Amino acid sequence: MVLSLDGEGPCLFMFKLVESFKRLDPAYRNAFEVIFLYPGFKALLMHRLAHGLWTLRVPFLPRFVAEVNRFITGIEIHLGAKLGRVVIDHGLGVVIGETAVVGDDVLIYQGVSLGGTTLSPVKRHPTIEDQVVIGAGAKILGNITIGRASRIGSNSVVIESVPPESTVVGIPGRVLPKKGVKAGEELQHGDLK
Ligand SMILES: CC(C)(COP(=O)(O)OP(=O)(O)OC[C@H]1O[C@@H](n2cnc3c(N)ncnc32)[C@H](O)[C@@H]1OP(=O)(O)O)[C@@H](O)C(=O)NCCC(=O)NCCS
Repeated sequence: MVLSLDGEGPCLFMFKLVESFKRLDPAYRNAFEVIFLYPGFKALLMHRLAHGLWTLRVPFLPRFVAEVNRFITGIEIHLGAKLGRVVIDHGLGVVIGETAVVGDDVLIYQGVSLGGTTLSPVKRHPTIEDQVVIGAGAKILGNITIGRASRIGSNSVVIESVPPESTVVGIPGRVLPKKGVKAGEELQHGDLK
């Protein structure tokens, strides 16, 4: 099956994705609404289809599926992007670049860009580890890694890698001291790259 990318069948993938929405969307009511009414759910399924066709080097069709996806959901995902069980909430204006890699249970709000900073055809988009939350309008730029379970503040611009469980805000993004830890004791500067 084209939708079966990582040895996981489309039904199991959809089931797990609904579960992720249930966990990460406080407005969740039922699976039926997620499947039929959530743009983020549709966008991810259509992307899995487009990415699978693109991997098989099928001409035109993958690009067409991605175009329909963008038209219906307002979410633009390049065919090459590798996405796990990503919960895209609201979703309008989300752009995910070709070499982006996004893990499972990642929550992405509207207006987020996972963008590149070079025109060279190399890995130039971010890697987002599992359970990261990316606030509305945030831009994460370049071949950097956002560590597991980090939180990116809305409208931040992140241009450097951050370690797991970081909270990042501002332009350029800065890692906030962990709550309950005294200033000066918390930041491991060596972990920032
Ligand atoms: C980054 C975030 C996760 C931090 O949450 P938190 O741990 O509760 O942090 P706090 O509210 O205690 O704020 C900590 C500091 O960061 C600052 N801050 C928080 N969010 C910020 C943001 N988006 N941009 C700039 N600064 C921000 C606060 O002003 C505060 O600064 P101070 O210590 O100088 O007073 C949260 O603010 C955020 O932006 N979440 C995204 C939510 C979102 O996009 N929702 C969309 C729903 S449609």
